[in-house]
Amino acid sequence: MRHDEQVRLIKELVAHLDAGTTVDAGGLRRIPTDSYTDLARAEQEMELFFKTKPQCLGLSLDLPEPGSFLTSNDLGVPVLATRDSDGTFKAFVNSCRHRGAIVESEPSGTKRRFTCPFHAWTYDTAGTLVGLPKTEHFGHVDTDCLGLVPLPAEERHGLLLVQPDPDGELDIDDLLGDWLNDEFPTWRFDDMEPVSRDAYEMACNWKLAMDTFGETYHFSSLHSDTLFNSFHGNVQLYTSDANNHRMILCRRDIDVMRNMPEDQWDITVAGLPVYWIFPNVILMPTRFGCFLVRAYPDPADPGRHVSRIGFYMYTELTKATGPEAVGVKEHIAGMAEGFAQIIRDEDYLMGESQQAAANAGALEHVIFGRNEPALHHYHNTYRAKLGLELLPLLDAADVKG
Ligand code: FES
Ligand SMILES: [Fe+2]
Repeated sequence: MRHDEQVRLIKELVAHLDAGTTVDAGGLRRIPTDSYTDLARAEQEMELFFKTKPQCLGLSLDLPEPGSFLTSNDLGVPVLATRDSDGTFKAFVNSCRHRGAIVESEPSGTKRRFTCPFHAWTYDTAGTLVGLPKTEHFGHVDTDCLGLVPLPAEERHGLLLVQPDPDGELDIDDLLGDWLNDEFPTWRFDDMEPVSRDAYEMACNWKLAMDTFGETYHFSSLHSDTLFNSFHGNVQLYTSDANNHRMILCRRDIDVMRNMPEDQWDITVAGLPVYWIFPNVILMPTRFGCFLVRAYPDPADPGRHVSRIGFYMYTELTKATGPEAVGVKEHIAGMAEGFAQIIRDEDYLMGESQQAAANAGALEHVIFGRNEPALHHYHNTYRAKLGLELLPLLDAADVKG
């Protein structure tokens, strides 16, 4: 992020702190709880938001070298992504052209060849069919036409982006918009190494997982013994465009930074930027790297989802040597692990609690407050894309349950 923008944002946070205010959505909204429970909706979401729309498979250094690969079963279509021999990021439908078996089952690794376990058809990192045993018995098919089905794929600003529909479009300018296209390169996401990866299978809808990242109103209660020690709760900034948004959370270190010369101000010390790429990706850059959180629905059960949470560290830190550097790295990795556990054991526990009540039909609606603008924007963006009626802005006096 440009430094003048960082200074502007820190001044806004300080102004909120001094005035005892936070960002204001201008009203409240009521959201129907069937958004988290309706099976037909879940099937529609998978089709519209996952199987046919650009997806983030990770950051560049998840595929660190030629031959690196990763697989995903989160998108409704099995995907195999590779870094080809020339370093290009590629992606394919992970299904053998013979009789459709999954070709690569490992989540990640390094290989020059991918051999289908069924009859040993073999593909290279460019998806080309390079081995077909016993052609004299099988038949001399045209192997040039029987490579893995390619998917539109592109690496942009350190994000590995894929379109799971082979005939679909991968319009990254549309996905990120001018604003994120402009701001993302400043974070150097392409220069961060994965240092931890967790997958949390939770009994709550994927949007409830996303919702927990949408406000800091809960810090002083839910995170009273954890994040609230290092963050001011209920103080945040908020900016959005058509699809995406950015929150700036307020770290307590701002109390010291505000008295330092402005040229030393750093938004990653004074705050925590939280980028939200619609519909399911959260990126949180820090001084040391970034968190990448992705939530994926269970299309057969709207009450379940899997969250994938990774922490990536700047390579200048991972490559540093000597006892002091090792200590710093361990400290950062420990912090990242602790943060991921807070998400699972505090935030997502609330998601499961909300889901249990929604499954029981306990309430028809829940409420988003004036201090939760990210939730207003997220859910109305979601509803607009599904052709649903938008949630109207209400005065507090009109919210009667
Ligand atoms: S299904 Fe893959 S080789 Fe037969
Ligand atoms: Fe939280």
